[in-house]
Amino acid sequence: MKIAVLAGDGIGPEIIAQALRVMEALGKHGLKFELSHGAVGGAGFDAAGDPLPAETLKICEGADAILFGSVGGPKYDSLPRAQRPEQGLLRLRKHFDLFANLRPATVFPELASASTLKPEVVAGLDILILRELTSDIYFGQPRGVRTNEKGEREGFDTMRYTESEIRRIGKAGFEAARKRGKKLCSVDKANVLETTQFWRDIMIDEHKNYPDVELTHMYVDNAAMQLIRNPKQFDVIVTGNMFGDILSDEASMLTGSIGMLPSASLNAKGFGMYEPIHGSAPDIAGKGLANPLATILSLAMMLRYSLNQAKAAERVEAAVRKVLQQGLRTADIAQPGQATVSTSQMGDAVVAAL
Ligand code: IPM
Ligand code: MG
Repeated sequence: MKIAVLAGDGIGPEIIAQALRVMEALGKHGLKFELSHGAVGGAGFDAAGDPLPAETLKICEGADAILFGSVGGPKYDSLPRAQRPEQGLLRLRKHFDLFANLRPATVFPELASASTLKPEVVAGLDILILRELTSDIYFGQPRGVRTNEKGEREGFDTMRYTESEIRRIGKAGFEAARKRGKKLCSVDKANVLETTQFWRDIMIDEHKNYPDVELTHMYVDNAAMQLIRNPKQFDVIVTGNMFGDILSDEASMLTGSIGMLPSASLNAKGFGMYEPIHGSAPDIAGKGLANPLATILSLAMMLRYSLNQAKAAERVEAAVRKVLQQGLRTADIAQPGQATVSTSQMGDAVVAAL
């Protein structure tokens, strides 16, 4: 299995290093990984003047899946937009048409008290946020800063969704719900935005093909509130790129820490990129403080969705559960006063549990 490994910036290299150790451990049990490393984000800019160097894209094109760390950092914030680290990530998503972004938020029993919410609100939580990843205001044209008719400067972006883009993420949502609790909640802002009224209309139409799945609709502001009030009411949430970005960060805190949430970004052929939903956390980079579990759980998603290795995926997830049961905690998931382990000690523990 050929894996493109793009560690990126900030804590990216540290957390990816732990996922690679888990792969090495799986390798001892018969799984063969062939790794190719590529520079991306700020590291891509430093190496080749481009957040997605041609060489890196070539490595990804030759791979069965991409394992991605994180990108971004203050050093690159003043670069022109096209050269900023985030563009490396956005271009990869667009290039491979990775429209379906799966962001599962599950609460490990041991971490129910690590959430800032009451344990009874989050205990047993198991929801899936399905975020559309290749369209919406993230990619809509035109965009920019211009001088308007009144001679004042204004910034503008375009929210845009085509029918086929909505249908394919809708289908993915219904299919995902079918394999789970059969409940799909489509999140929009149909009371204000034309684009998302259209989104809602297409979801309703697509529902005709999935009568066994219950479809509900919720405005995004209400969804933000309901996720905190009673998150267990949800099974699968399907939403656009922008709303999904925001709601998935919010949902991560239900699980205790953003350091716990993995993601898979898939195209129609099942090719995917796997990354923790958190960013590069430059403030803690290089200090051994980062939680590698979101990346290790992303590796499990890779095994399941792109490499057809469901058993190995379960083993990795079971190993993560075990280390949490053993009481190992990086700083982000520790209770006040509880002993913490470093990034690599957490990796050690997962490898040992495997
Ligand atoms: C995410 C991140 C990215 C996004 C950034 C880094 C461009 O926040 O994956 O959620 O906005 O999609
Ligand atoms: Mg985000």
